[in-house]
Amino acid sequence: MRKLFAIIGHPVAHSLSPRFQQAAFEDVGLDAAYLPFDIAPEKLSEAIDALRTLGVSGFNVTIPHKEAIIPLLDEISPTARELGAVNTVIANDGQLSGDNTDAPGFQTSLETFLATNNLVLPSAAVVFGAGGSARAVLWALARLNVKRILIINRTRERGDALARSLPFLPKDVRTFALDDPSWAEEVHWGATPSPPTRSSGAQGKGGALLINTLSLRAFEGSDTPFPPLWNIPLASSVLLDLSYVSRRPGSQEAGGVTPFLSMGRPFRAPCQNGLGMLLMQGALAFRLWTGQTPSLAAMEEALRQATGQDNLWKSL
Ligand SMILES: NC(=O)c1ccc[n+]([C@@H]2O[C@H](COP(=O)([O-])OP(=O)(O)OC[C@H]3O[C@@H](n4cnc5c(N)ncnc54)[C@H](OP(=O)(O)O)[C@@H]3O)[C@@H](O)[C@H]2O)c1
Repeated sequence: MRKLFAIIGHPVAHSLSPRFQQAAFEDVGLDAAYLPFDIAPEKLSEAIDALRTLGVSGFNVTIPHKEAIIPLLDEISPTARELGAVNTVIANDGQLSGDNTDAPGFQTSLETFLATNNLVLPSAAVVFGAGGSARAVLWALARLNVKRILIINRTRERGDALARSLPFLPKDVRTFALDDPSWAEEVHWGATPSPPTRSSGAQGKGGALLINTLSLRAFEGSDTPFPPLWNIPLASSVLLDLSYVSRRPGSQEAGGVTPFLSMGRPFRAPCQNGLGMLLMQGALAFRLWTGQTPSLAAMEEALRQATGQDNLWKSL
């Protein structure tokens, strides 16, 4: 019988997951359908019952259900428990087990991006945002042994609360408000205005990894929406955005240079949008559901067709 996989969220129509998961199922010859279901928060419990009844084999969970779903599941993995968020559910004879592939997906994506562009991990990481995806990013940074982390958020208290709630973080974590530019003094920007490369031998000495997890709303309403980056040497930084929505006049499209990344472009700073993380979290979910390794090439090709972005790993 045809297997059913799904993604639940609200909204979910924009999700690219059905495109590349379906491609991965077809590539391995598994008779499966992967469908999006828009579930309002007050319907979440009913929807989970319905998915059990339908005999779903597995599903992804996106905004705003990643935390709320936890008490509705039969068990959750140590990673999902540590992060307090589930983005992947595996079903076995009606038993639902929650996991989190966002965090390892971000880590794998970052490692692939650095290797592809011959870069080493900068010595400091600056995380903009303190929401659900910032937790996944911080988990990966801790795993990668990044020693100095700055968390910058509109509401500084939320940044403080986030730092306190994650026991795996390194000691050297500081929080700032988004409108306080003094965080830049906490980063050693390096003598040479270029990000550390493997061939330069500048093993993680200078510059910073600047990671945006703020929602697109933070970039609305101005041509120069992000004052905190005006006065820092962006040329020695690496910019990553979890968002993959580029804004072109009159439209919002997936793929390409996001508003955050557009700040690094004039300085030729290496830039990557969130499509790499999206792909890697999806590949890890696929493996949890099927026990098989999906073809990244097939998944990437589906994303290429959906977004027009040629390469997820080369700097934009
Ligand atoms: N590539 C991927 O696979 C992937 C995976 C997960 C998420 N994402 C993307 O990551 C982004 C964030 O997701 P999330 O789940 O972390 O969202 P979230 O939990 O809602 O967090 C949103 C963050 O944006 C900030 N923010 C919202 N409106 C703002 C404004 N007007 N001005 C300044 N700051 C504002 C919030 O600050 P306050 O704390 O002050 O409210 C918070 O730090 C989204 O674009 C999402 O699509 C991508």
